[in-house]
Amino acid sequence: MSSLAVKYRPRTFEDHVGQEPIVKALRNALRLKRISSAYLFAGPRGVGKTTTARIFAKGLNCEASDDITDRPCGKCQACRDIELGRHPDVIEIDAASNRGIDEIRAIRESVKYLPSRGRKKVYIIDEAHMLTMEAFNALLKTLEEPPEHVVFILATTDPHRIPPTILSRLQKYEFRPISPFDIIRRLQFIAKEEGIEVEDRALQEIARRSEGSLRDAISMLEQVWVFSGEKVTYEDVLKFVGGIDPETLDRLVIHIRKGESSEALSILDELMTRGVSPQDFVRELGNHLNEMLRAVLEGRRSDITREHILMYMNNVLKMEEVIRWSQTPRLWVEYYITRMSLLPSTVDLTEIARKYNLTYTPSVGDKPAPRQSPPPQEKKEKRKREDDLALLLASRIRKAPVAGTVKESRVFIEGKKLIIRTRSEALKKFLEEEKEELISAYKELSLPVEEVVIDVQKTHPGLLRLIDELDLKEVGRGGAGGD
Ligand SMILES: Nc1ncnc2c1ncn2[C@@H]1O[C@H](COP(=O)(O)OP(=O)(O)O)[C@@H](O)[C@H]1O
Ligand SMILES: [Mg+2]
Ligand SMILES: [Zn+2]
Repeated sequence: MSSLAVKYRPRTFEDHVGQEPIVKALRNALRLKRISSAYLFAGPRGVGKTTTARIFAKGLNCEASDDITDRPCGKCQACRDIELGRHPDVIEIDAASNRGIDEIRAIRESVKYLPSRGRKKVYIIDEAHMLTMEAFNALLKTLEEPPEHVVFILATTDPHRIPPTILSRLQKYEFRPISPFDIIRRLQFIAKEEGIEVEDRALQEIARRSEGSLRDAISMLEQVWVFSGEKVTYEDVLKFVGGIDPETLDRLVIHIRKGESSEALSILDELMTRGVSPQDFVRELGNHLNEMLRAVLEGRRSDITREHILMYMNNVLKMEEVIRWSQTPRLWVEYYITRMSLLPSTVDLTEIARKYNLTYTPSVGDKPAPRQSPPPQEKKEKRKREDDLALLLASRIRKAPVAGTVKESRVFIEGKKLIIRTRSEALKKFLEEEKEELISAYKELSLPVEEVVIDVQKTHPGLLRLIDELDLKEVGRGGAGGD
């Protein structure tokens, strides 16, 4: 852990940031002396689990009070020893490195003895999910009959990996990610104490990138500070994490959207010259697209459609896979940028969707251009004739699911042949047995049918890929590429 994070580890409850409900509950317990024998502190990394466990242990053993207190002083010998991990009655075990049954057996032995100096013996088991099964079993025996003077605090980032038999004996507290607001406030405080000059936007960026982990945020501030020398700026943060500002990413995406591949590539060049690695680039682009998607879905922007963003995200996902093992990641990043720029525009999508009987509803901001010319009358009539023939065919089929598939098929007459083009094997199977009957039915309507041809077509693999990439659904089928 970096030194600033250690230096600014809260020593008392007053110093604590966020996690208010937990702090309140624990302080109440201390005040009312209603102490459980075992607690679980669950939550992501760097949000104060270990810190809180130590302050709680201080509350139980602070020497500035006559009894258990909800206001441990943080200054007396006991509080300081707990902080430094050398209080004889507060034992911290890192289960990640001590997974074994021996340690837990040692605990089982030592719980029998009264605290030597304080009021309670406190066992803080960090990363508790790492214990082995045998160790858990040994621990369970202790938890079943805990001595009056013992308190266990299990801390974990992964509560699901703790056996239910153990879980049911723990009082559970769920630690939340620290809010950006609280992170920024804490960073401002630390910066002030340390005389670090830092831009607001730099703090915002650090808070955003630390994803709720105050420890990560503090370490990042410290590292960027060391690396930037003087004032910590937004650009310093970006440089340090290999980040890209949203304005540049936006320009890039819009160039891609407009099919301007060379402009898009020149932005990429610029970024790489600045020292952004292909891996950084892919990560940043993915995150940015995700933000764009949210903005579109929430109606905050309409200069791009969700379909385009989804399509691009799909490409970013592939890019990520490809460059992971590639010797030439930059080449592939360029390839995918070019490829994305060449993907069909929305107007094309509407066309393709219609042609292949796919559902495609353009979203906000999508205004399909008016068609160049209306389809010729002739074409319309042909289509209507086909629809009539299909309707007629469907009316002949009593099995409902099979009849349904006629809708997705083309039915037309060529010479003396009734041709049914379908993707449904079920329809083919059904019609094979009904051919004779069909021919006579059509003849009754004075349609010159002598032969029935049933043509089962597999969707073109290229089309399937497209469907997949565009996140389209085939009408009346389970999903993309159900063949
Ligand atoms: N809630 C918090 N309030 C103040 N500082 C915190 C908090 N959570 C984490 N920190 C900072 O991060 C460091 C690591 O916190 P820690 O309690 O070890 O996190 P965890 O055990 O949840 O991984 C602390 O030393 C402190 O500087
Ligand atoms: Mg910890
Ligand atoms: Zn104290």
